[in-house]
Amino acid sequence: MATTLAPTELLDTPLAIGGRGFRSRLMVGTGKYRHNQEMAQAIDASGAEIVTVAVRRVDLDRTKEEGVLHHLSPERYFLLANTAGCYTADEAVRYARLAREAGFNEFVKLEVIGDRETLLPDTAGLLEAARVLVKDGFTVLAYTSDDLITALRLEDAGCAAVMPLASPIGSGLGLLNPYSIRTIKQRLEVPVIVDAGVGTASDACLTMEQGVDGILMNTALAANDPDYSPDVEDVEGTIQEAIQQIFARCSTMIAERRENPTEDLTSVLVHAEVDGEQIEEHEIVMGFFLLVAAGNDSTRSTYSSAMRALMESPDQRQLLVDDPSLIPGAVEEALRMFPAFAHFRRTTTKDTVLNGQKIKKGEKVVMWYPSSNRDESCYEDPDRFDVRRNPDHQAFGAGGRHFCLGASLARLELKILLEETLARYPNMTLAGKPTWVESAFLNQLKTLPVRLSP
Ligand code: HEM
Repeated sequence: MATTLAPTELLDTPLAIGGRGFRSRLMVGTGKYRHNQEMAQAIDASGAEIVTVAVRRVDLDRTKEEGVLHHLSPERYFLLANTAGCYTADEAVRYARLAREAGFNEFVKLEVIGDRETLLPDTAGLLEAARVLVKDGFTVLAYTSDDLITALRLEDAGCAAVMPLASPIGSGLGLLNPYSIRTIKQRLEVPVIVDAGVGTASDACLTMEQGVDGILMNTALAANDPDYSPDVEDVEGTIQEAIQQIFARCSTMIAERRENPTEDLTSVLVHAEVDGEQIEEHEIVMGFFLLVAAGNDSTRSTYSSAMRALMESPDQRQLLVDDPSLIPGAVEEALRMFPAFAHFRRTTTKDTVLNGQKIKKGEKVVMWYPSSNRDESCYEDPDRFDVRRNPDHQAFGAGGRHFCLGASLARLELKILLEETLARYPNMTLAGKPTWVESAFLNQLKTLPVRLSP
């Protein structure tokens, strides 16, 4: 599947680091994928040229099929060794040299980690290691904090690029301090590549808008929530098996309804005609599967997010307890603030201009619902959960012929869930920190510990 723009459409100049030109400003990593095939496909689709590899963690023997390197051709990608997982300057220097001995080029992404919890860099150790490696003939790209003084010192030390973080590695918090990144870019001569914490495509845009030369992203592309991708040998097989069971159930139901029609949706579909033709069995089965997949976690997570917002704003909850007729409006507010799907992609059918931005016919456009639903030009104080707002929103889609087929059902389910929960547990409280699904697409809570009564 081609998901990147054809190179002829790119008007950009090449990115130059250490005297070498690169055609893409996106760098990617190899970690966090479920298996090597998935990694290879994702990296291919990303269009990136530079792929960074943690020499401490991967098997450097590329003949071994189970190793990461076996799947990344050095003719196709520029493999950039990194020293992730090194906690001292000595260790980082040792692993950089090991990579070079193992056949990597003279480039190294230098990391000296200072803290096991946040993985923030040890900038003193980093400077020390950078000086040694530059002297040793390496082209050093230094992963650092967003501190200008350290960035300047790394440049002085001879680093070919400085890679400040947007936020802690893997946090997905996005660009926490645009001012610092902008300042580093303005003051340094060498390329500035933002390295960590860029969680979404919109974060990447915001980061590039600071004028930096490139971005390194991994978690955002590889994001696979471990709880959503169980660590079993044959994940694909297990998923396939479950899907087959759903298909088999549906086929049985179709056969039954052909024989003995009832009033239900399957009976209608089995006997319906579109343009004089019956709907084929596989079309009904796929529709059934779509309903199962689309309607499940979406509604569950909107409910959890709504309850969390109400527990965090007891005054808002009290309004609903006192007057349950406000609940349908509160459902809309929850859908606005916590859209269960972060984005959908469309292809434009004609040239258009949106808020001053020209979009050509045929371009791919991503609609980002957590952003549009908090558009400050549409909503007053958009980050406030207000059960009386009863807003319009795009949680079910943003117009056009595609729209959530289950919107009415989801609204009904959410209304009943809130009514029943507030009636039974009006004093429910939070009993810990919620966790989110690790995904760029699912904008959903994974767990929400609560205490049903004080
Ligand atoms: C809070 C709950 C839900 C949310 C936030 C939600 C959101 C969405 C979104 C954003 C889309 C994509 C629209 C587009 O392509 O632009 C969609 C499509 C869809 N949803 Fe939902 N949904 C929810 C619940 C449900 C339920 C309960 C069902 C059915 C049982 C359902 C069935 C579908 C189907 C079949 C589609 C595909 C429609 C198409 O492409 O034409 N959804 N939903």
